Amino acid sequence: MSESVSGSHAGHELLIRPRRDDDVVPDVSTPWDAWPEEARPGEGPPPEAPSHLQRAVVVLAGTTVGTMSWHVVSYGPTMGSRAWNIGIALAEPYRGTGIGTTAQRTLAEHLLADCHRVEASTDVENLAEQRSLEKAGFVREGILRSAQHRADGRHHDLVVYSLTRGDLTGGAA
Ligand SMILES: CC(C)(COP(=O)(O)OP(=O)(O)OC[C@H]1O[C@@H](n2cnc3c(N)ncnc32)[C@H](O)[C@@H]1OP(=O)(O)O)[C@@H](O)C(=O)NCCC(=O)NCCS
Repeated sequence: MSESVSGSHAGHELLIRPRRDDDVVPDVSTPWDAWPEEARPGEGPPPEAPSHLQRAVVVLAGTTVGTMSWHVVSYGPTMGSRAWNIGIALAEPYRGTGIGTTAQRTLAEHLLADCHRVEASTDVENLAEQRSLEKAGFVREGILRSAQHRADGRHHDLVVYSLTRGDLTGGAA
């Protein structure tokens, strides 16, 4: 990400800008990610960072409230078959006030200038993120079974959502 993406939330500027080494990022962790030391998966080397991983911070009215990331997923050999998969985590005090909805919609619209599909996946139990994506205009597509190994030691099903360029233009992609 070379430039910032800006939007507006509740009358304040919402900025999604590249994450810098000296950024002070609030704690955005959740119980989903609280691996006990002895249970942390230790088999083999950690997976490589996904292709074209981009890391950003979400800044609302000058305050860093969370993080976002996105990476390329490819559904075929052509450039046109590439999509962006996005993720977000807000610090606890900033959850539940619509910032996630605004940020995900703002980023998706920005990315759709350059591709045809933006997707996001979340735990089947993460109802807040599912609702937030739906409010942002994403369409629920289906379930990825046993896709994500989480801190409780189980492999969780994920729900996949997407927003396509056609969704923005009423079908004329
Ligand atoms: C998930 C997250 C990004 C959503 O952003 P947000 O700004 O909190 O979401 P919004 O306020 O826009 O919307 C949340 C919606 O979920 C609803 N919701 C929240 N908790 C819920 C629950 N347990 N069950 C059902 N709905 C719930 C809210 O009521 C709201 O819907 P409404 O506006 O219709 O009332 C944010 O909560 C967050 O960072 N959570 C922790 C990290 C995380 O889970 N990231 C996503 C990982 S895939």
